[in-house]
Amino acid sequence: MAITQNLPVVDQSHFKAFEAISTPERLLLGPGPSNAHPAVLEALALPPVGHLDPVYIHLMGEVQELLRYAWQTDNRLTIPISGTGSAAMEATFANTVEPGDKVLVANKGYFGDRLSDMAERYRAEVSIIEKPWGEAFTLQEIEEALKNHRPSILAMVHAETSTGVCQPMEGIGELCHQYDCLLLLDTVTSLGGVPLFLDEWKVDLAYSCSQKGLSCPPGLGPFTMSPLAEKKLLQRSGKVPNWYLDLSLLNKYWGSDRVYHHTAPVNMNYGLREALRLLANEGLLNAWERHRINAEKLWNGLEKLGLVLHVEEDLRLPTLTTVRIPEGVDGKAFSLHLLNSYGIEIGGGLGLLAGKVWRIGLMGFNSTSENVEKILDIFESDLPKF
Ligand SMILES: Cc1ncc(COP(=O)(O)O)c(C=O)c1O
Repeated sequence: MAITQNLPVVDQSHFKAFEAISTPERLLLGPGPSNAHPAVLEALALPPVGHLDPVYIHLMGEVQELLRYAWQTDNRLTIPISGTGSAAMEATFANTVEPGDKVLVANKGYFGDRLSDMAERYRAEVSIIEKPWGEAFTLQEIEEALKNHRPSILAMVHAETSTGVCQPMEGIGELCHQYDCLLLLDTVTSLGGVPLFLDEWKVDLAYSCSQKGLSCPPGLGPFTMSPLAEKKLLQRSGKVPNWYLDLSLLNKYWGSDRVYHHTAPVNMNYGLREALRLLANEGLLNAWERHRINAEKLWNGLEKLGLVLHVEEDLRLPTLTTVRIPEGVDGKAFSLHLLNSYGIEIGGGLGLLAGKVWRIGLMGFNSTSENVEKILDIFESDLPKF
């Protein structure tokens, strides 16, 4: 019997005869994604193997080990979540918050808002301390808040992509543990580009993304939890209220059992493995130094052009610079000009800084002296026309 017999008529109204995909060349100097390293793109294009193939299982172990190196942690539960940074962010609360748990969010930007929103969705009792967008918390402010709120989790962003601020971390983890509280840290815009010492800083929960300092496309969300956070997970009175992000289930795949949980995005993990290998080969200290040197060159160049940087030098992020849009300049029109005339993407302001700053990213593969010179030259020649 012909397959077309007894079938409904195929509706052609959504059929379009498209050309095969082609994408323009872009230099991504915004808040992310950043350009992927060519070797990572090659790894992504390799033929997939099965997600339970011994070869892939071996690669999973390599990804986990390389993530531990990049984050400077010994945490057993260190895995890439299948999803972007926000999925890994959500995994932190999903696994450790039970209804009524007190979560304190130290909020100094757009992604601090997201942390509170997510914690509320897991029915935490959320309290918030805030700093103006462009500043960081002092140790004294954190201690006072821990004393006042007595949370079981303190959540904060290390590298706030909306403001360009790097939160100093020394001493915060000790304080948290002194107050019987876990420390949860967003490292989305710091991993690979800014010094990070999770174990030394006593961070209990952290997450990141693949598309910034690691020079891989978006799609994976590195996640890690300390033995203390794992204890909280084991002591839950109820199930983790999110099946996909439940670390006790995910660990049956990523831990020694290696049993099916979900079909892993095999090629994304090829890419991440390659990205992490490149980072390890460069060495963390060298990578951090490269980001710092190129950022300083950008800061000096922008200031020489008479532009004002939004964040004080000692709190500035090497991976993302916020520069104020001068009075009378149409910031959006200038960004669009960079994209249309030069194929260069920079970011606009987010939330409270919308329309006030541009955000220039120098992350991973893109943090080079040539890219800094390129963007500075264009600012110098073209900004006066706006
Ligand atoms: C600091 C920070 N946290 C979380 C996220 C969310 O990550 P994603 O967009 O990969 O879901 C971002 C994204 O840029 C970010 O910059």
